[in-house]
Amino acid sequence: MAISIGENNVFLLNTKNCSYSFSVDQEGLLRHLYWGARIDTIEDFKNEPYVWEQGFHPLNDVKREECSSFGTMRFKETSFKVTYADGVRDFRYRYVGHTIENGELTVLLEDMVYPLQMHLHYKVYEDVDIIEKRRTVKNCGNEVISVERLHSGECSLPGAGWNLKNFNGMWNSDFDAYEQRIMGGKTVLESLRGTTGHVANPSFILYQNAGETYGEVYYGALAWSGNFKIVLEQTPYEYLNILAGMSDTDFEWRLTGGATLETPALYLGYSPDGFDRMSNAMGEFSRRYVMPKPMAAKPLSVLYNSWEATYFDVNEQAQVQLIEKAAQIGVELFVMDDGWFGQRSDDHAGLGDWRVNAVKFPNGLAPLTEKLKSYGMQFGLWIEPEMVNHDSELYRAHSDWVYHYASRPVMEGRYQYMLDLTRQDVQQYIIGEIDQLLTENDISYIKWDMNRGLSEVASAMLDRSEFKSIWYRHTKGFYHIIQSLRALHPEVEWEACASGGGRVDYGAMQYFEEFWPSDNTDPLDRLSIQEGYSYLYPIKYMRAWVTDSGNNGKRAMPLLFRLHCSMCGALGIGLNLNECKEEEFELLEKYVGLYKEIRSIIQFGQLHRLASLPMDGLQAVQYENGKESVLFAFLDHPSRWRTAFTIRPRGLDAKTCYRVEIEGQQQQKYSGAFLMNSGLTITLNHDYASCMVRLLPES
Ligand code: GLA
Repeated sequence: MAISIGENNVFLLNTKNCSYSFSVDQEGLLRHLYWGARIDTIEDFKNEPYVWEQGFHPLNDVKREECSSFGTMRFKETSFKVTYADGVRDFRYRYVGHTIENGELTVLLEDMVYPLQMHLHYKVYEDVDIIEKRRTVKNCGNEVISVERLHSGECSLPGAGWNLKNFNGMWNSDFDAYEQRIMGGKTVLESLRGTTGHVANPSFILYQNAGETYGEVYYGALAWSGNFKIVLEQTPYEYLNILAGMSDTDFEWRLTGGATLETPALYLGYSPDGFDRMSNAMGEFSRRYVMPKPMAAKPLSVLYNSWEATYFDVNEQAQVQLIEKAAQIGVELFVMDDGWFGQRSDDHAGLGDWRVNAVKFPNGLAPLTEKLKSYGMQFGLWIEPEMVNHDSELYRAHSDWVYHYASRPVMEGRYQYMLDLTRQDVQQYIIGEIDQLLTENDISYIKWDMNRGLSEVASAMLDRSEFKSIWYRHTKGFYHIIQSLRALHPEVEWEACASGGGRVDYGAMQYFEEFWPSDNTDPLDRLSIQEGYSYLYPIKYMRAWVTDSGNNGKRAMPLLFRLHCSMCGALGIGLNLNECKEEEFELLEKYVGLYKEIRSIIQFGQLHRLASLPMDGLQAVQYENGKESVLFAFLDHPSRWRTAFTIRPRGLDAKTCYRVEIEGQQQQKYSGAFLMNSGLTITLNHDYASCMVRLLPES
């Protein structure tokens, strides 16, 4: 049974390998009891853990709680804070009851005096060891109640000495992996950009002693694309408290009589065997439960994107030329990036005017879409619908449609303003324009970009007392727009981009078919970006373009190295094909073809990070589907004459004999046991050397 309830109101949630437990104590408060390896006997949890109280050690701080709220002699970070109409600022609740419906457990808490209810929702994904937590608060009275903090969930881990792994970064340096020992006090991961952002990803990984293939790992990810906050507080009371949800910085939601407020979901996962298992569980979880259908089950196409080839300088003739070349190498989907609309010739103008630029495309988009059709290819377009430039028709007509303080000049980010998505007329405008674009043109794919954070969040349509709710409303507005467009055009695929990986989160994953993880396409940087991304996000969503070498300050690298690097995800091409030499074309055509053969293993298989630069001297990654494997290995430069590297693939069948195909070498045969234990030696002997290896079972 995934959800069991035992003596003394003990709740036990079980997945295949994990248990999560909490109970109602004698006071009627919820205590968090356990999260970790599976325990089947619910009776083990029935005795309330002893808690020692002393004036300066208040009971509620010492207790490991499931729903702490500000006040009532709690001085730790709490997961809920309200202000009632009379100025009282604590939620003094008691457990009231619970329901289980359609596999979802809902626990009901009520304030003892004020008409406020809290619903804690739990879902158990048994097969992938994930527990989902969400909360809803309901005002059952008439007076407004201010909600100033409402996290999605709270839980704890016992003891101290926990290590945190998380992914921070900035534009062009997305998914930089950081590891730190959590000492006393609070560690906070937060975004205040109104969107996920590059600075911190809404996720965490905790462990005491773990590696890729060993050790217990506890992790969490928020399904939210707006401001978020994850607080890890090492209390002096022998536990690490974990709180995650929407950020409470500059947040207030005025909950009117009868109204509810719901949090995004927090997914909590447990791996008994290290990071490898964690990543693969999250991959399965994403595909089975989060990604939109039907694309969740289909591999992504090989895409061409024009951005790095032409930047804003797009026009009919140049794009048709690129289409012809892209068709030649086997590209399936051609995406025209920024520059095709309004008066857009650089990033100073045009955002908001989603009409085809008649000078660049005097015949509209038809010459492109018809050409593509003749090759059996699909067409995609770039948009950035949440934005407007000062220099645009839209801004000239509706300067009040942007977030701004009436008394101050509006601030620009990348020369653009942020549209007020809390307004229905703005939402309708965006839906209408993009709907028209999709209806009038043969478009199969949209890259939805977002290139600045929110600032001066004030809206002409809201009372000033509501301004602090705008962060939440904006994200909901964004979800509403994409949901409406998906409903109007169910055949279209959507890519989430925010200056690269600024919107990689489990909230966006519900409405998009893929992510653009970084604007940085330098392959060496990309290897570490892709590695960081792969810890908690699926390879299927990881678009990777092969781009020109040596341009834009990039290092010059062999085309093969660039191809191999991009083949580690969903292959895309971003080269200026008009500049490619004959032999480069041949290589591109060959590897695009090869990628199509192996892409289902890469996009749907198990991922194993075998070696990591700079620590292991090379980067090696394996993808396998239980039968076949594909491995890629990369060397930045040979150091101290070391050119032979032994890597040990995982997930093979010990008894099966595998044909080992290392590019450019004679085939060999080894048993799975030999490969997994003794390993496979490969030679990489020059700067930017790389190779692909296939392990094919002999029938
Ligand atoms: C952002 C995106 C890029 C590209 C440009 C276009 O930077 O991340 O991929 O689309 O915008 O302006």
